[in-house]
Order: sequence, then C-alpha cells, then structure tokens
Amino acid sequence: MSDTSHEVDVTTVLDNIGLLATHDESAGDGPLGLVRNASVVYRGGRIVSVGPAGQAADERIDALGACVVPGFVDSHTHLVFAGDRADEFSARMAGQPYAAGGIRTSVSATRAASTAELVRLTALRRAEARRAGITTLEIKSGYGLDVANEARCLQVAEEFTGDTTFLGAHVVPPEFEGRTDDYVHHVCTDMLRAAAPHARWVDAFCEVGAFDADQSRAVLLAGAAVGLGGRLHANQLGHGPGVQLAVEMGCASADHCTYLSDDDIAALAASDTVATFLPATDFSTRQPYPDARRAIDAGVAVALATNCNPGSSYTTSMSFCMALAVRDLHMTMEEALLAATVGGARALRRTDVGRIAPGCRADMVVLDAPSYTHLVYRPGVPLVRAVVEAGRIS
Ligand code: NIG
Repeated sequence: MSDTSHEVDVTTVLDNIGLLATHDESAGDGPLGLVRNASVVYRGGRIVSVGPAGQAADERIDALGACVVPGFVDSHTHLVFAGDRADEFSARMAGQPYAAGGIRTSVSATRAASTAELVRLTALRRAEARRAGITTLEIKSGYGLDVANEARCLQVAEEFTGDTTFLGAHVVPPEFEGRTDDYVHHVCTDMLRAAAPHARWVDAFCEVGAFDADQSRAVLLAGAAVGLGGRLHANQLGHGPGVQLAVEMGCASADHCTYLSDDDIAALAASDTVATFLPATDFSTRQPYPDARRAIDAGVAVALATNCNPGSSYTTSMSFCMALAVRDLHMTMEEALLAATVGGARALRRTDVGRIAPGCRADMVVLDAPSYTHLVYRPGVPLVRAVVEAGRIS
C-alpha cells in the first residue's frame, strides 16, 4: 500500500473497501453503520465523504476488498514509565495476588530515568500501539509521584497526546509512608500546580491500599478547581465507593469496574459517566472479569481500553481486549468494536474520533480480513494491514 499526502489541498480516497464500519447509523446498516463496497475521501487529515467505491480524488489507495474500521481510541494508558515488572507477573501467575504496592517499583525506575530515555520508551510504546490500530490514546502520569517527576512525566506524555491525565494520587510514595492525608494535600497543592499546565484530566486510584473516597474526592475537586476533567480508577480489586464517587463527581469515566453492585450499575446508567472496562488487566492479574453484559443491558455506556502499564496490563493490543470482552465479558462483536472506538471517544468526551464520518479525523484501520469479526475470531493474530491516522498512512 503506497504512502499518501495529508496536505490540505490534496484529496485522497481509500477505495475498494469490502466492508466499512462507519459507526455512523445514518450512513449504513445497524449500530455499526455498515457499508459494503465503499470508499472514504479525506483531505487535510479530516474525512470529507463516505460513499460507494470509486469516489474521485487526487490520490487513490486500494484497500483490496478488506474490512476497514475506525481507528481504536484507547482511553486508559500509563505509557510513561521505565523498567518492567516481569518478575512480578511471573510470581502472580504462580499464585501471588496483585497488589497496588508494585507501582512503587516502577516509580523508582521512572525517577531514575533521564527525560530523553522516557521520551524514547514512550515513543516505542506509542508506535507499538499504532501498529495495533490505536490512533487516539490517553496517557496518565503516576510513576513520578513527586512534584518534579509528575510534571516531567506529563511533559513527556503531552508530546504524544492532548489527552494527558494527572495521576499523582496513584499510590503513596515511600517518603510519605504512613502519612496519606499529608500526601493527598501535597498532590492537591504543589504537585497539582506543577502538573496542571500539562494535563487535561485528573485521576485517582480509589481502592484499598491506595486512596479512600474522601481522599479521592479531594483530588478530583482540586483538579476541577483548576479546570481538569475527572476520571477515576474505580472498583478494580473489590467492591468499593469508586464508581459512586465517579458518578457523584461527574467524571467522564469510571475505569476498571471489575466489581459492580446493582447500585453501581443503576448510578452509571443514570449518568454521563462511561464504564471503561480493562479486561487485559483482569487477565494479567487473575481477577474475575466484570459483568459487562449486565451493565450494557441496564443502559450503561461502556468503553474498552488496554490500560497499558508495566504492572497490571502490559499490552497495547486492543484486539486482545476485544477478544476478552466478547468471550469473557459477554459482549457481542459489535459492542466490543463500538466500545473500542466510539466508547473510548465518549470516555474522553470527544466527538471527532471513533467514527468514520464527514468532519471526523481521518483515522482508519485497514484489516487483513474481510470482517471485523476476525479481530476476535483470530485472537493473537496481527490483522492490522495499514493504519490511517489524521490522513497519514503507515
Ligand atoms: O490501572 N490500578 C492502578 N493503576 C494501574 C496499575 C499500575 C501498576 O500496577 O503499575 C492500573 O491497573
């Protein structure tokens, strides 16, 4: 497949698409807005039109009859870190439980790394994610946990995305051991001041072993006071107050949601807060899988994300997450694809990505397959033939 231009005055047509999932119900069949024998014209990084095969343009790329889906929107990652925790993973597979404390191992390695090294490592992971079809992603801090390192990690993150999230409240670092309230005050004052210019969102890990509901609320309120939108790590390791707090605070997303009570589901269904499932985490930590079916049937808006991080989920494969979502969270193929695209966009409160429709960013994945079903049907097989991101093909 040849390269193409993303310049403003050049139109490009991605032509001869066997099956196009637009996710625009007005453009095609069913919730995926399916169009057969289609083409997509784009210019200057934006989609101009969706139509039958053969639309005119300055340049033509032949999809060779393949299935094309919107670029994946990964609304939860922790890409800025140094080192890995393969030993911890091996121990877990041998029966050790996952514990929030492992985060401190990555904090030490990240603090010790130079900024150039963090940029290099993040660029490698960003490129890996793109090869997996991810064209939009959010990146959290959370492995710095002091003023200088949280700001530094966010500065690295903003080189790769506008959706940066300040996660100073990830765990309590060693120098604040036993003084969680003092640390929360530090996060809400000095650390937030340094982080906010580089962040769009604020987040906290609301969980036993990390931060309780009052501490997490304080962080979300402090972030909101300086204009940051809220998102929350909620109900990952057990039932708890996280989901209800995310709804109370109007967070864009409650992430993990592995444990959902009936009240949690009712609260989410009545809110604008997206439940973001991270099934690769449950896989890698041997947690039970969340009951996405029950949430969706109750009217909860859902997203799927990779949660790429060195501790609980070291993957950039959205198709792996989709496979788990279908097999173990009991979502349909269509629900999984929507959750990995428009669902993620909604969790980031964005309308410009996740769909293939006029005006949206030209983000598309050309599959080495005739249908999106193959993303789940052929687990572990790299089916991304080409990625168009803001009109650039790779
Ligand atoms: O989303 N749960 C908290 N944070 C990450 C895990 C980070 C780690 O273990 O390093 C998560 O799973």
